[in-house]
Amino acid sequence: MVYGLVRRFFCHARKRAVKNPLFIVTHNPQTLQGMSENPLRRRGSEMIEHILHTPSNTPVVRLKMEGLEHIQVLAKLEYMNPTGSVKDRAASFLIEKLLRQREINQDTVLIESTSGNFGIALSAYCRYYGLKFHCVIDSNISSENEMLIRMMDPTVHKVTERDATGGYLLNRIKKVCELKESIPNSYWVNQYQNPYNAEAYYQTLGNEICDTVDSVDYVFLGVSSGGTITGVSQKVKERFPNAKIVAVDIVGSVIFGGQPRKRFIPGIGSSMIPNILSSAKIDEVVMIDEWTTIAMCHELYLKHSLFAGGSSGSVYAAIKQYFTDNKSIRSANAVFILADRGERYMNTIYNHNWVRNFEENHLEQEIKA
Ligand SMILES: Cc1ncc(COP(=O)(O)O)c(C=O)c1O
Repeated sequence: MVYGLVRRFFCHARKRAVKNPLFIVTHNPQTLQGMSENPLRRRGSEMIEHILHTPSNTPVVRLKMEGLEHIQVLAKLEYMNPTGSVKDRAASFLIEKLLRQREINQDTVLIESTSGNFGIALSAYCRYYGLKFHCVIDSNISSENEMLIRMMDPTVHKVTERDATGGYLLNRIKKVCELKESIPNSYWVNQYQNPYNAEAYYQTLGNEICDTVDSVDYVFLGVSSGGTITGVSQKVKERFPNAKIVAVDIVGSVIFGGQPRKRFIPGIGSSMIPNILSSAKIDEVVMIDEWTTIAMCHELYLKHSLFAGGSSGSVYAAIKQYFTDNKSIRSANAVFILADRGERYMNTIYNHNWVRNFEENHLEQEIKA
């Protein structure tokens, strides 16, 4: 019943927005050039048109961090993107590029495996372009993300069995292959291998990060598909060859050679090594555990009023650890991103009972280890 009410509320809001001429403004005329001829743009309202074409120039906030006063730490609020995460960059860029290059057409069915944010962004864009979308998710997805995806009406396939590594990714990919086989004219977005995923960040976020300060010395980025760090690192190194790119991964992820382990926080880490990462320019890797991630999400909120998702806590923890361990660095500009919003973790990271359960399990695992 609640689902029905929410759905009605959004339908109503959408109808109102279409009537409101304020929403017809577009902020990025370049993106829209030539789009008037695009026969696919038929299901999008003015509201969606306005919102979905402005995933750029997200705000930057300077953090005052105790003990790290010599470091200028800059947080770029990627959760301010239209559908609430850094994955708007990849979804919008990728679909537009595929359509423009006629790699897909009006009847193509898009398929993707995603633990949440990419699914939300792709669902929104596919709906806008009138493209059919099959979204493969897993049990790790937060209930909030699942609801946001389902509201955009893609076909959802939920994988509930863990794979041999303890994660879900391998089983999700298996499901994707089955769909690809059975659906004619289908296109697997494949964020782990698709070069457009990295190109999106090279063309957009990479430039914006370079423009935040006169000299970028460090960029800290969480890694999952590898798209963000690959594109951003290439752009940053081009403009600031001496800048250091620090990858942040989560304990239990295998991306940088770690041992696979059951993980509970989506968005960061992976149970396979993404192909696109081979062209990333990474200088160092910092591993953070999920317990520290949770604690640092709370600290980000309590000390800095930044209500962000799991990977933001991991990266914030990595910055603290890195500059505390490297005391010889006397001054530096360090940029990181807040990839998504805290609201998406209300039933996990910001839920008292969930955290208490997590703590008990975490302590048990530590004792066994
Ligand atoms: C919250 C969050 N942080 C970080 C990332 C990592 O981005 P990428 O997949 O580009 O490596 C993602 C990707 O989904 C994410 O959802």
